[in-house]
Amino acid sequence: MKNSLSRRRFLKLAGSAILSLAAGCGFSAPPAAKSRLDEAARPVRKLARTLTGDTSLEARFVRQIVTGDNRTGRTVMWQSDDAQAGAEVACRLAGTEDFMVVPATTERYTDDRQDAYLHSARLEPLLPGKQYEYRLLAGDSGSSWMPLKTDDGGRFTCLIFPDSQCSDGYVTWREVAQDAARRTPEAAFLISMGDLVDNGEDHNQWEQWFNGLDGVLNRLPLAPVMGNHETYTLDWKTRLPLAYLSLFDVPENGSAAFGRYYYSFDYGDVHFAVVNTQMNEIDDLRPGLLAEQLAWLPRDLAATTKKWKIVLMHRDVLRYGIHGRPERRPGIDDIGRTFMPLFDEAGVDAVLTAHLHTYRDRGRLYDFQPANQGPLYILTGVAGNVRYPGLWIDHVFDKFIAPQPETDNYLTLDASKDELVFRCYLPDGTPIDEARLRK
Ligand SMILES: [Fe+2]
Ligand SMILES: [Fe+2]
Repeated sequence: MKNSLSRRRFLKLAGSAILSLAAGCGFSAPPAAKSRLDEAARPVRKLARTLTGDTSLEARFVRQIVTGDNRTGRTVMWQSDDAQAGAEVACRLAGTEDFMVVPATTERYTDDRQDAYLHSARLEPLLPGKQYEYRLLAGDSGSSWMPLKTDDGGRFTCLIFPDSQCSDGYVTWREVAQDAARRTPEAAFLISMGDLVDNGEDHNQWEQWFNGLDGVLNRLPLAPVMGNHETYTLDWKTRLPLAYLSLFDVPENGSAAFGRYYYSFDYGDVHFAVVNTQMNEIDDLRPGLLAEQLAWLPRDLAATTKKWKIVLMHRDVLRYGIHGRPERRPGIDDIGRTFMPLFDEAGVDAVLTAHLHTYRDRGRLYDFQPANQGPLYILTGVAGNVRYPGLWIDHVFDKFIAPQPETDNYLTLDASKDELVFRCYLPDGTPIDEARLRK
């Protein structure tokens, strides 16, 4: 994955191989346009080997990651101690026996003095709105079949988790995440708003974070947002976010310097742009992140044909005062000064942020003021045990603040053609806030 160019070439070759296999199965060449989707609907290869019920494959933290178009593609990743040369993923429509096979890339991954092998496969082309099953294969071993559902381009619900960093072995995170997933069986995917872990180089913390989503990430794709804590070293200096970039094979953005630092994806009738706000941490190590995004984001938002546009970014747009620090003036933060005019101009509908570990619904803002137009700005709260009780002074733009002192929270988004509904819940499922946008 670090060598994205060769990876793309590899997948292109893999795709050709699949089409060749299809031809070998006697399929006539389908007409253009619909052909690639039709191809995916048809059996590509009969189960010929393995798949004998052997489910002994070592596969840790099996996870789905969003692709740019989740109607037709899905990325599947896992980790292992053994190299698992020739690893691949079998995928079939649920209830059928025939399947296609996609080779996985394998990368040796070393961080925090720990070695692992990371495997990633992009399953495409898939059919929209279909229930699939996938199975990991390597040598004579395989995993069990796991569910995978593609986006049908219509109404959906997703789960949104704010900062999940923890100091308790991620027990709090696991409870929040597992309960939220259990209460939201209709969720199609998950968003993590950044600061997934407290220390981005700490191998144990990543394992604990993934364990918190055990049984969830192997069936629902994740859209992660990079936070500042993903850039911290064990001795609390900054580094490039090596673990985050290796662990999450998010969609490419075409950047040579900042591939996968920022990206966009579509789900339903919503275009999501994932902006990276870690300029403070990254500029000294690799300059140019802001300039690149200021060129990319307007292009990305203008290019979508989706009705709704949502921006996800870790740092907030507003500056909150801090009790006991009168020199810190509330107002618009530098991130807001930089990006809010761009959001106004591009017709962004909602902006979700995190980082301050508090839930605040600020309603719609336009030209730096509350308005009946402009994006809805939601500061998404906290989903770990790192809490800042009594720290923030309420902002004049705050319309709703989570009950104080805050415990934890999560959000859902229900998105349909005519409406976006954001709901915020306490960990026990009690709803505390709802924000609707209609157009
Ligand atoms: Fe945080
Ligand atoms: Fe943060």
